[in-house]
Amino acid sequence: MTKKNDPLLQIHNLCFGFEKNKPILDNVSFSVEKGAFVLLTGPNGSGKSLLLKCIKGLLKPTSGTIVINGEDLTKSSRKRLQAIGLIFQDADSQIVGQTVERDILFGLENLQLPLEEQQKRLEDVSTLLDLKTKFKQRPRTLSGGEKRRLSIAGVLVMEPQVLVLDEPFANLDYPSVLQVIRTLLKLHETGHTIILVSHEAEKILAYTDQTILLEQGKVVADGKAKDLLPMMTAHGVYVPSGVKIEELTWLKP
Ligand SMILES: Nc1ncnc2c1ncn2[C@@H]1O[C@H](COP(=O)(O)OP(=O)(O)O)[C@@H](O)[C@H]1O
Ligand SMILES: [Mg+2]
Repeated sequence: MTKKNDPLLQIHNLCFGFEKNKPILDNVSFSVEKGAFVLLTGPNGSGKSLLLKCIKGLLKPTSGTIVINGEDLTKSSRKRLQAIGLIFQDADSQIVGQTVERDILFGLENLQLPLEEQQKRLEDVSTLLDLKTKFKQRPRTLSGGEKRRLSIAGVLVMEPQVLVLDEPFANLDYPSVLQVIRTLLKLHETGHTIILVSHEAEKILAYTDQTILLEQGKVVADGKAKDLLPMMTAHGVYVPSGVKIEELTWLKP
């Protein structure tokens, strides 16, 4: 049964490895409140992407539990596929439609939703992600930031319970990074639950509600960004030294 104050997502003692006795994820536990904006960070190879794939249901954890909305979905990877909207690192790999509009509608068409419902979701999501003027454009002609917004749109129309983005700043220039930051803040404001996975913590840290720091497959810290700030560089995640959390912004005031 779902209790009112249950966190939306609870991961408990999750372990994963490709070989026996060689755990890559080692007893990972954390929870995420509904509507929270969470940064999952850690150096390259710390296990962030594998953790996402385990949560989503693309990889099978060796042990541990995954509870969503109070329901134990550890053994139900099909339900997790629906509940967790994963936006992959490579935006191009997620683009499937011939036009922006077709691409956003792609997942919905398989759900056999009434046409009005499809149109409503298309309208809402493309307004939120500022893609309405791009409907007839071919996805591969979009800029990096626009492509990223399109890959978010395609996942968001499916109305997942949690939005998970793997390294959304990768390979983007400065203006595109700003577009993605603004998009994330808008999603947060509109009540979406977001897990952002990035080693580029300084770009976004100041805006998060919770930061989880992963190192060699273990959670080494979990809390408020301002409390984690002094220890992050020592654990392989660069943040400029001597700055306050509120000064750490890529957005101009
Ligand atoms: N298919 C695989 N087979 C074996 N080892 C892998 C595989 N994929 C990832 N790994 C290893 O798992 C560790 C964590 O990888 P990953 O989750 O991609 O790290 P991150 O996303 O934090 O950079 C790395 O040491 C990586 O080499
Ligand atoms: Mg990764």
